[in-house]
Amino acid sequence: MSLSRHIDAEQIIAQSKDHHYKKHTDGHNRTLHRTWRRDEDAAAVPKYALPKHGINSKAAYQLLHDETALDGNPLLNLASFVHTWMPEDADKLIVENLNKNIVDLDEYPAASLIHNRCVSMLGDLWKAPKEGKVIGTATAGSSEAIMLGGLAMKKRWQEARKAAGKDYFHPNIVFGANAQVALEKFARYFDVETRLVPVKAEDGFIMNPHNALQYIDENTIGVMVIMGSTYTGHFENVKLMNDLLDKLQEETGLNIPIHVDGASGAFIAPFAHPHLQWSFDVPRVVSINTSGHKFGLVYAGLGWILWRDESYLHRDLIFELHYLGSVEYSFTLNFSKPAAPVIAQMFNFLNLGFEGYKRIAYKDLRNARTLSRALESTYFKVLSNIHIPLKPENHRNEHSDDPETYHSGLPVVAFRLSDEFKTVNPHVKQAWIQTLLRTKGWIVPNYGAPLGAEDVEILRVVVRETLSEDLIERLVVDILAITESLACKPFLFLSIAFETWRLIY
Ligand SMILES: Cc1ncc(COP(=O)(O)O)c(C=O)c1O
Repeated sequence: MSLSRHIDAEQIIAQSKDHHYKKHTDGHNRTLHRTWRRDEDAAAVPKYALPKHGINSKAAYQLLHDETALDGNPLLNLASFVHTWMPEDADKLIVENLNKNIVDLDEYPAASLIHNRCVSMLGDLWKAPKEGKVIGTATAGSSEAIMLGGLAMKKRWQEARKAAGKDYFHPNIVFGANAQVALEKFARYFDVETRLVPVKAEDGFIMNPHNALQYIDENTIGVMVIMGSTYTGHFENVKLMNDLLDKLQEETGLNIPIHVDGASGAFIAPFAHPHLQWSFDVPRVVSINTSGHKFGLVYAGLGWILWRDESYLHRDLIFELHYLGSVEYSFTLNFSKPAAPVIAQMFNFLNLGFEGYKRIAYKDLRNARTLSRALESTYFKVLSNIHIPLKPENHRNEHSDDPETYHSGLPVVAFRLSDEFKTVNPHVKQAWIQTLLRTKGWIVPNYGAPLGAEDVEILRVVVRETLSEDLIERLVVDILAITESLACKPFLFLSIAFETWRLIY
């Protein structure tokens, strides 16, 4: 199997080898690759077929250790929302619990209790009503959680339609075109029609609840509102959506629930924007998902979903398992799951507490504001708005550190080249900034805005806990140096040469 469509790199490499080694490169053996260890001959293993005999563990380690060195550095991966660092004590705890399966409730009762306490703490953080019985579970990430949230809404809608003797085969779901792929996956995998609400630059590239209304009808199972758009970090307005849906119900009788996709925002809003109404304090919010592995500050592999009351988790989704000697209830898509991420989540809850999470959210947002202002004062237009004061007059002399005095959103900086820069330097392609930053180790994506504003290109930095003030300073220096080098004359000639070459070929 060759990984390139145009040139067979493996064949070229095979033909370039010393004669002695060429014999290993014919037929299916072509895919052999070699490990090295100083104290033994290099061992050979096929690349795409299971080796008949294994190599020793040190050689296997070395082979993969070296190969993974080609990956980007997670610290400098500013494209990802996923957390990449935990304290040593958390690492130790994770290693101690790596071999436990959270689904084995009887065998690992402590892990199971810790799981339930995490659900309860999240319910409290998200203002679950005291009179209800909040229910929830850990998942592999927000994607699985969103599937479950969507399925629960679909089942409730179907049941109500069946009871009313109406067609229950054409469900649809409404969300903004800025939705992360997980939302569309839910719709496609579970046969629900997607109704995408186009976004506009002036709305911050997020769903405007007023525009969402026209996509809703009697077949709408719910609206998914995104707390923390992947594109720009803006929070969608959950409360306004709720109020508009109240009005819609008064006028039409349609009772539409809301699922909040809080993949990132459900771990930022409670700490940075405690007065914002977005969670279970908003009556139509029936379920919320988040990624423990994003601003929950755990390594990759953990999501959560909670329903405001167990009545919203349709009974068809709950399986009673008589397994390994006890009765268990399962309502996740996957059965087995590692216990370690859940235990790591509780480590953070205990170690950080509310004030610790708040400190980190404040710091991330402060660093994001610094980066936003630095970019905005040079060659860029910043499209995220967490650095813009709600009341500019209160900020006249000094910048406030309280996120509530700014527009709410994730610690994300979305930006593009300014119109002035583009006018003076029409030859500069924004995507080149991404490419050149990569040569310095930084991973900063450049991508198109969602449906409705597709012609806008966005560069985006996710400011996570590990992106210190010092690194922000280095990043600004590198972005500016790269942008200035692109603006200079030699690049102009290179760009003309490139465009000419493209036209000819
Ligand atoms: C808004 C939003 N929803 C859902 C997801 C999917 O989350 P996960 O990667 O935890 O499955 C993401 C991931 O970035 C996201 O930003």
